[in-house]
Amino acid sequence: MIQNEKLESVYREELQDLYDAEMQIVNALPGMAQASSSPELKAAFELHLAETIQQVRRLEQVFAEMGEAPGSETSEGMRALLAEGRLRINSLPSSPVLDAALIAAAQKVEHYEISGYGTARTLAQMLNHGDAARLLQRTLDEEKETDSVLTEIAEAVIVGEELDDAETEGEEVAS
Ligand SMILES: [Fe+2]
Repeated sequence: MIQNEKLESVYREELQDLYDAEMQIVNALPGMAQASSSPELKAAFELHLAETIQQVRRLEQVFAEMGEAPGSETSEGMRALLAEGRLRINSLPSSPVLDAALIAAAQKVEHYEISGYGTARTLAQMLNHGDAARLLQRTLDEEKETDSVLTEIAEAVIVGEELDDAETEGEEVAS
């Protein structure tokens, strides 16, 4: 049996990482919404920004219940994901192709969060922090929902527009 103290420190580190990750996402989402050419994608990023602000509050609540304050450690994982996404996005003009790159970057972010919140929720349960486990589960559900909405947008909107473009180009060639 692992000592609870050691497990508790893994739990705290995970929460600190998630807290800084969420703060970075709050800063990144307005630019991602602005860069979206699809209105559906823009709306999804704007909705997720509002959710992310609530997710930050939930983490603050989890810290407060532990009698702690969130630290100022940088989530290097999230920093690298967002930097890589920004690099690709900046090299593309506004188009469905840019939307596809935005979705790819955003889904990497969501998957990072899904694994972080999944771990934190399970550790909270193991450490008998029931209220924290419920708060973390709520955020985990939102991240999973965002991920599946992004997949739907990628399939419905972007693939649709790309096909339209291809058809139009085909007609031009034919005439
Ligand atoms: Fe989040």
